[in-house]
Amino acid sequence: MSVAVCPGSFDPVTNGHLDVISRASAMFGSVVIAVAANVAKQPLLTVGQRVELLQEHTAMWPNVSVAEVPGLLVDFCAEQGASVIVKGLRSGSDLDDELPMALMNRHLSGVETVFLPASQHVTHVASSLVKDIARHGGPIESLVPGSVAAAVRAALT
Ligand code: PNS
Repeated sequence: MSVAVCPGSFDPVTNGHLDVISRASAMFGSVVIAVAANVAKQPLLTVGQRVELLQEHTAMWPNVSVAEVPGLLVDFCAEQGASVIVKGLRSGSDLDDELPMALMNRHLSGVETVFLPASQHVTHVASSLVKDIARHGGPIESLVPGSVAAAVRAALT
């Protein structure tokens, strides 16, 4: 069975992430969402919160699971028996960020990265923008699921 890993910070998971996960779940036998424990910037949500929110909002896809990644992504892929990493792309600047990681992951272990273009209705959605809008009291309910919006607002109070 083909196993794909869908990695990210997911701080928080957005409707854009869920679009990519949904489409990946239709392409691969199983999809393991890899939540990076050690993100470069101080995350708003704990890794436990990010995992729980992803579990809640991917429960409708039986071949999708969620796990924390404490270390290198390529080591996690090997543990999971995954030979493919799936990432969404919204723009050329996303590709500028993603391509070096894809090439490095292939250099480290041979794992390939498949890029899925974001669906048009979520191309503008980014976790960083969701947090910025919420910090300034703006509406985020059309960008993330309701329980995610609530968790973001609670974390900001
Ligand atoms: O959602 P993000 O922040 O764009 O995801 C980045 C992520 C988590 C995929 C990347 O930072 C990562 O793979 N972290 C795990 C540690 C690792 O393997 N680093 C080397 C990457 S070449």
